[in-house]
Amino acid sequence: MRKLNIAIIGLGNIGSFLFKYLNENIKILTEKNNCFPVVKYVSARNKKKKRKILLGKSIWLDDYLEATTKKDVDLIIELIGGAEGPAKKLVFNALKNKKHVVTANKALIAKYGDDLSKIAEKNKVNLEFEASVCGGVPIIRSLKEGLIANKITKIFGIFNGTSNYILSSMDKENKNFDKVLFNAKKLGYAESNPIADLNGDDVASKLKILTSLCFNSFINNNIYVEGIKEIEKIDIDNAKNLGYKIKLLGFSEVFNKKIYQRVHPTLIKKESYVAGIDGVLNAVIIDGKPVGQSIIQGEGAGPSATTSALISDISSIMRGNIKFPFSVSSKERKKLKFENIKERFFSAYFRFEVIDKSGVLSNITNIFSNNKTSIKRLIQNPNKNKKISSIIIITHASKDKYLKKILKEISKKNYIKKRPKLIRIDE
Ligand SMILES: NC(=O)c1ccc[n+]([C@@H]2O[C@H](COP(=O)([O-])OP(=O)(O)OC[C@H]3O[C@@H](n4cnc5c(N)ncnc54)[C@H](OP(=O)(O)O)[C@@H]3O)[C@@H](O)[C@H]2O)c1
Repeated sequence: MRKLNIAIIGLGNIGSFLFKYLNENIKILTEKNNCFPVVKYVSARNKKKKRKILLGKSIWLDDYLEATTKKDVDLIIELIGGAEGPAKKLVFNALKNKKHVVTANKALIAKYGDDLSKIAEKNKVNLEFEASVCGGVPIIRSLKEGLIANKITKIFGIFNGTSNYILSSMDKENKNFDKVLFNAKKLGYAESNPIADLNGDDVASKLKILTSLCFNSFINNNIYVEGIKEIEKIDIDNAKNLGYKIKLLGFSEVFNKKIYQRVHPTLIKKESYVAGIDGVLNAVIIDGKPVGQSIIQGEGAGPSATTSALISDISSIMRGNIKFPFSVSSKERKKLKFENIKERFFSAYFRFEVIDKSGVLSNITNIFSNNKTSIKRLIQNPNKNKKISSIIIITHASKDKYLKKILKEISKKNYIKKRPKLIRIDE
């Protein structure tokens, strides 16, 4: 019977769950993969830290990097996190020393995936990262294997459970952003420092990885990123009244041989499939030929879902064969043209809080028409006591650069009481 010797580096939320799962499921994994997995070594930052796992026969390495030079290690599982520092050192060294690598680290793959994949290919070892995108949703293996026949034209969806939880709770529980974020932290749905989740960076890393797999391109940093920090309860309620929901979506698509990557809060029709994905769930929608549209949804994070993805990668390595990390070899990956979204057309939702006086509305509508943007709907909600008014405008499709210009111009007007809002609509 073949054997695969494993070192798990990082025993936090994910590492300790995976360690336990691997040890408790040796028999079934051996049967399914015709190979016997052995967790030979483990390491983390602090040996003395109390952990919920019994290390058994696994040997603790005081220096985590030692795993990369041990003769009796075939596979290193990196579960430290972060694009730089120890995780980067570990993965680069492991591949250089001809060890297979499995990682859940989206930040590392989004930044160094191209370089790492070249080393893996040269040294004929596997670099697998299913768990780096959407936790338990098997999107990477689906793209590389199940959907291999297809020419993909678009991938989009909900890639961040924390943001989705916050937006859907604001919608359902009648609470504002800060209150919902506080609850999300208490329930473990948001990290103590959730910046990357809220500012869109987490989705951006995942989307860059998916884009390169969908279009056989190198990872590209030309991506528009906007998070959910500016979304207020009033916008969610306005959207609802207009027949929409607000979701943080990531999109990657091909138009006229150019690729557009974007992450931003989006108004989508209430009755659409994506609008129904609430809470911490993730959902990925893929348009491909000949398959048509495929959808995968599931738990996007947490130790159980992430372990499901890690075991899929480990099993793939146990079954043998060296695969290209990004589906095609680095020599065949393309330098495609990535375009900024400023020339793309979107219809949009605007909200202006203004001083309620004559001439304001006509000034606003003039600025729209001067910027080649026609208004589809305009709703004015005056508050006579406070002498302010809330103006909501839904536009017809216009170039993104004009929408941005309108926002900038109107923001500077002295009748504006609060920073105006612009949210793109997906029709
Ligand atoms: N949490 C999720 O739901 C989730 C989902 C998908 C992907 N991921 C990814 O999975 C990875 C791990 O996440 P996590 O939530 O398990 O993180 P975590 O709980 O913070 O665990 C990090 C582990 O790395 C170890 N570590 C930190 N610095 C180290 C160093 N200098 N040398 C050696 N070990 C070091 C820590 O050691 P000590 O224990 O001794 O402090 C800890 O065991 C990340 O890349 C994350 O993005 C997480």
